[in-house]
Amino acid sequence: MSEALANLLNETRQFPPPAELAADANVKADAYAEAEADRLAFWERQAGRLTWAKQWDQVLDWSNPPFAKWFVGGQLNVAYNCLDRHVEAGLGDKVAIHWEGEPGDTRTITYAELHRLTCQAANALTDLGVTAGDRVAIYLPMVPEAAVAMLACARIGATHSVVFGGFSADALTNRIQDATAKVVITADGGFRRGKPSALKPTVDEAVAKCPSVEHVLVVRRTGEDVAWSEKDHWWHETVETASPEHTAQPFDAEHPLFILYTSGTTARPKGILHTTGGYLTQTSYTTHAVFDLKPETDVYWCTADIGWVTGHSYIVYGPLSNGATQVMYEGTPDTPHKGRFWEIVDKYKVTILYTAPTLIRTMMKWGEDIPAGYDLSSLRLLGSVGEPINPEAWIWYRQHVGRGELPVVDTWWQTETGAIMISPLPGVTAAKPGSAMTPLPGIVADVVDDQGQSVPNGGGGYLVLREPWPSMLRTIWGDDDRFIETYWSRFGAGAGGVESGREAGAEGSRGWVYFAGDGAKKDDDGHIWLLGRVDDVMLVSGHNISTTEVESALVSHPSVAEAAVVGATDPTTGQAIVAFAIPRGSTDTAGDAGEQLIADLRNHVAKTLGPIAKPRQIMLVPELPKTRSGKIMRRLLRDVAEHRSLGDVTTLQDSSVMELIASGMSGGK
Ligand code: WT7
Repeated sequence: MSEALANLLNETRQFPPPAELAADANVKADAYAEAEADRLAFWERQAGRLTWAKQWDQVLDWSNPPFAKWFVGGQLNVAYNCLDRHVEAGLGDKVAIHWEGEPGDTRTITYAELHRLTCQAANALTDLGVTAGDRVAIYLPMVPEAAVAMLACARIGATHSVVFGGFSADALTNRIQDATAKVVITADGGFRRGKPSALKPTVDEAVAKCPSVEHVLVVRRTGEDVAWSEKDHWWHETVETASPEHTAQPFDAEHPLFILYTSGTTARPKGILHTTGGYLTQTSYTTHAVFDLKPETDVYWCTADIGWVTGHSYIVYGPLSNGATQVMYEGTPDTPHKGRFWEIVDKYKVTILYTAPTLIRTMMKWGEDIPAGYDLSSLRLLGSVGEPINPEAWIWYRQHVGRGELPVVDTWWQTETGAIMISPLPGVTAAKPGSAMTPLPGIVADVVDDQGQSVPNGGGGYLVLREPWPSMLRTIWGDDDRFIETYWSRFGAGAGGVESGREAGAEGSRGWVYFAGDGAKKDDDGHIWLLGRVDDVMLVSGHNISTTEVESALVSHPSVAEAAVVGATDPTTGQAIVAFAIPRGSTDTAGDAGEQLIADLRNHVAKTLGPIAKPRQIMLVPELPKTRSGKIMRRLLRDVAEHRSLGDVTTLQDSSVMELIASGMSGGK
């Protein structure tokens, strides 16, 4: 990484935990030393937080890397751990889910009720012929039945594959076919931006191309008319009439729990496979450690959709295994008004809020007056996930949502890692805005150079994980070779190809290195700063410059709410920096004021990061192209910057955004 760019590391603000939180924290500083002294014994103790039907014989079997087995020989039931054991402990009347529909309808679901619904769904699925090991696709809006469907699958050992409700019929078809799902669980539709949004027609289109599907279970949510075939069953006629008696059978620790597809950069999605014991151990422990969750008093809210891994790990499995009370919200943050999130925090007295940088930047754009209009005093901890959080967005979050007092935990992880890997501990870490700080106890992460050598403090390169972890992906569904190639062949024992990797693996268990695909830096204290996907690093006049750094520099200007940066081919510099910036709400951008702002911003970046990072071009835009999970699609912006016709836009949240941006670009700003 260029020296001129050491400046992001000049972010020196640091915020120690509030004294009260530190004194009463679930996990204290000694956890690091404890885990370092004996990593496997540490994870063994965390597994002990769960209820097992049979104790394991071995903590980790890494004799055939990179294929890991955790808690070998152990048996447990995930749904039992999330529901039955809390009910048996007398907590049946405790609220598990405060559900808030977008139109404002609500449901309050206790642990006893969630248990009953899950047992009924388990019986209904069994009646439809689903047995352990079968795959069930779930394509639902954010309704409680989504959690029930997942837990019911877990209860009977069926492997669920949740497909985000915003995906197209093609995406759904591919995922159903790849997993050969036997049953699809869906709804007539959900509510989105004030209107019913149909799902069933998409499922009908997909199921017509998927011979593996024998039955479709349909939740009635919107009440709109739907086409009906002999494979279809209404949820309320099937599940809600089934017996509520169901005894959960234990499954092997390595029994497949779910598949979740991640699209990555290539067209063919990867079915990330997670299993039972290790996954639940780490999601449960990290919920306890990173969110400092106190199930008796906290009201937790993760704003993710259940269609993403964040929804799996930090709406369903992590919080419920800890007996949490949580909020689940069906809709969008600006329906019916831009204060919707804060209204929900206020209404349910949310104490822990976990959301994404894209949302925080959107809130910044809307202005701090909106959160200021609500009582947010119940909040005691804030979390962020999904992308690097720009220091200014971090500060804004702490200031305008967190009263300038609350700890912010910036949590780095992936669909593949299953659970949080790098994050501050809220009662221990003096967090730096923009840094995910340190690997959690029991996790061994590093930043390496092209050759796989660990970089010294102050250096940059690639983020890797050096030791297996309990909630790691076990493989890519049906494609072990792609699993090895994608994650284990860049560095360490697996480098040099699948075959040599296998031989190396047969010789010994050491030296396998997981390549996360993210660029990262270590600062002078050894703290980790994520720099975005390695595909998003630009090469300008021989200097590696990360898109994240330039974006953070732009967002640190008071007139910018959000920015995206790409490298466009340039005859003199190889790549040139092209930036797209969304001005903050009140900024004047008409005519000369706009030109002046652009000039100011170019200078601001040069001053912050060094002249090498000065963008060749900056466009002021009203919106940025984002995937449905809120990640900026830099690939499309690169197409615009290089005057190409647009590539595949099917995963884009709102395709009209690109027309707006492209027309501004040809206008030659
Ligand atoms: C990629 C994984 C993890 C759940 C949601 C996303 C980026 C995630 C952070 C963070 C910087 C982050 C990385 C990662 N990412 N969290 N705190 N700081 N980058 O899951 O869709 O599998 O995406 O998201 O690039 O590799 P995912």
